[in-house]
Amino acid sequence: MNMPKTNDRLTQWASCAGCAAKMDALALAEVVRRLPVMHDPNLLVGLHTSDDASVYRIGENLALVNTVDFFPPIVDDPYDFGRIAAANALSDVYAMGARPLTAMNLVAFPKSGLALEVLHEILRGGADKLAEAGVALVGGHSVTDPEPKYGLAVTGLVDPARTVTNAGAQAGDALVLTKPVGVGIITTALKQGLADAQTVAQAVESMAQLNRRAAELMVEEGAHACTDITGYGLLGHALGMATASGVTLRIAHRAVPYFPAALTLHARGIVPGGLATNRRAFDGRVRFSDAVPGTWCDLLFDPQTSGGLLIALPEAGATRLVQRLAAEGFGKAAIIGHVDSGGDRPLIAVE
Ligand code: CO
Ligand code: CO
Ligand code: CO
Repeated sequence: MNMPKTNDRLTQWASCAGCAAKMDALALAEVVRRLPVMHDPNLLVGLHTSDDASVYRIGENLALVNTVDFFPPIVDDPYDFGRIAAANALSDVYAMGARPLTAMNLVAFPKSGLALEVLHEILRGGADKLAEAGVALVGGHSVTDPEPKYGLAVTGLVDPARTVTNAGAQAGDALVLTKPVGVGIITTALKQGLADAQTVAQAVESMAQLNRRAAELMVEEGAHACTDITGYGLLGHALGMATASGVTLRIAHRAVPYFPAALTLHARGIVPGGLATNRRAFDGRVRFSDAVPGTWCDLLFDPQTSGGLLIALPEAGATRLVQRLAAEGFGKAAIIGHVDSGGDRPLIAVE
């Protein structure tokens, strides 16, 4: 690990570039698979369905929703890093159609070399984002670590009957994606000093945008299934939905919203480590038609931080949802494909 002792560029303190540094999906799945299965009738969504958050019944019409997320700096501005990390942590609650209530900070920070003011800015960014979301910051925990990390554990509530999981996609549903893909390539370029300020600013605003309104609108429009797009990329998380729902997802690559700069930077050879890991882990279950350029195959595996929601819902609701999202600051939201029956095994088809 080549880590400078003092450097005011926050991303230079991260050992891994351009992603939320998620572990290899297959390696992690193997470790989790060997954990004991909980037999608790109140545990409605748990560890073994690779959903975004857990759902635990505490009353007739009430369940707790829990999730946790933290990662090393992906942008240089500590305040932006804080609000991105908070928007990202809250996203797993929104993806379940739930309402986040409280959050706790998770902090790793070096003993020396980085000013405490940097930590203050990170936490201020997180706190401001929580305030925007109407979520109470109620505590936290910190450790000393040569690599800074920040994230949050979030608790929310949901009516179990109205929970949206990744398992409800039905044949005939349309697929809506609410944010453009490509922020992994852009943040990797940033770490290498190859991204221009305007490109970075656009990616930062997208990552810092709360998925709250998208989640509220998807519930109103009758969402059958949802997952948020983060470290495993659009195709990795789509595959999670296909597997849990027992369906095939058909994605039209030309309809997928993206940052044009990500394609340009990719052409210059910028490939996040997580992108290659995702491709290795998921490639065998994704079929690309000849119409899909190689650079687009990569873009669809690009690891996202605080990415959009991927929502499966009936066609009429999807059309209305995209229109309503456009009026709520999700101007690039689009219908990107549809759901087919699973056949012999669920997978993704990109055309
Ligand atoms: Co998630
Ligand atoms: Co998560
Ligand atoms: Co403690």
